[in-house]
Amino acid sequence: MTLNDVTMNLPTYPMEALAKIRQDLVDAGTRVFDFGTGDPRIPTWAPIKQAMKDSIPEISQYPSINGSPELRKSIWGYCERRFSYQESDDLDLIPTNGSKEAVFHIALSLVGRAGGRKSILYPNPGYPVYKSSILFSGGTPVPINLDADDGFKIKPWDLPESVQADAAALWINYPHNPTGSTADEGYLKEIIAWCQKRDVILLSDDCYTDIYHSSWDNSGERPHHILKYGHKNILSFMSLSKRSGLTGYRSGFILGDRKLIGSIRKARANFGVGTPLPIQAAATVAWNDDEHVAERRKIFTERLDYCFERLQKMNMIQDRPQAGFYLWCPLREDDDDITFSLDLAKHGVITSPSQWLSEGIKGYVRLAMVPDQQDLKPAMDIMETFVTKRY
Ligand SMILES: Cc1ncc(COP(=O)(O)O)c(C=O)c1O
Repeated sequence: MTLNDVTMNLPTYPMEALAKIRQDLVDAGTRVFDFGTGDPRIPTWAPIKQAMKDSIPEISQYPSINGSPELRKSIWGYCERRFSYQESDDLDLIPTNGSKEAVFHIALSLVGRAGGRKSILYPNPGYPVYKSSILFSGGTPVPINLDADDGFKIKPWDLPESVQADAAALWINYPHNPTGSTADEGYLKEIIAWCQKRDVILLSDDCYTDIYHSSWDNSGERPHHILKYGHKNILSFMSLSKRSGLTGYRSGFILGDRKLIGSIRKARANFGVGTPLPIQAAATVAWNDDEHVAERRKIFTERLDYCFERLQKMNMIQDRPQAGFYLWCPLREDDDDITFSLDLAKHGVITSPSQWLSEGIKGYVRLAMVPDQQDLKPAMDIMETFVTKRY
């Protein structure tokens, strides 16, 4: 063995496994309806592309880790419009190359903090990089199982005392991937109170915060954001991947406690994660505009409405999630989610089984609202035939 244990023992990244299933179907000439990976194919808003093209420099130089003044201004403008936040003695931000690297790298700065605490707590099911980043950093991953009966709320206070005492940080993610669960003000305040009592750094993965039911645009009701209720020891991870569909551009930011951001800025200068200038220029345009985001929300709302209604009739789901673009469908008792997904994939419909999106959570499949509107009916027809035969 020439590599370390963490690398040697990593499971296949779920999206790689899904890509293989997809390729096998395409090679076999099957028409594919891919609800697997959360990477919707909606054309990029033209001014974003133009800004990137227009800013390819004559002379290439290293970008600053802190972001260009234009990008920072644009992000602060968004924070003001969306959350009424301004830069202050308490609040600062730093751009990132999307959330994934930011989620990964933050663990390096947290494991061992405050007297050597090594544990980082995170939701299960949840985004797989919470766990892998902790492992690569030499920490102890502590998954907390989410329960449908609780609305999939993470409850660190239910852990044994010794586990709570070793916690360096806690991840939350509302709107949540994969369940679509959201958090209300009372719950977020409870989470902050627990973190403060335990001196735990709160990490909030907020990349779905702008993906919610499009009717909320007019009602003023939108997913609650953690920094409304406190700043100290709290960081929010934001991204353009879902908001503007810029998954391939790699752009986001971390917003929160000014002292923490200062330390993170020093650390990140070592990681090689300065964002290329043309991407910063594209991101500047994206954060400055809300209209293209409203258009995307409409598209996801229509897709979710249609698939939810069809799946509800199949008895595959009960409650429509109010945010995110996922449907988390419980299977009938003792049906295995991996077998279900693989059997369904043979008919061309790709879903993600819960065991691939979690540590040991069985009996669910996730559908990401990725296929185009015109593909939803044929896909749901296939699913209905499949489910009717199976159950
Ligand atoms: C919960 C969650 N966090 C983070 C990410 C990473 O997003 P980004 O493209 O910004 O790296 C994803 C991507 O699907 C996600 O679902």
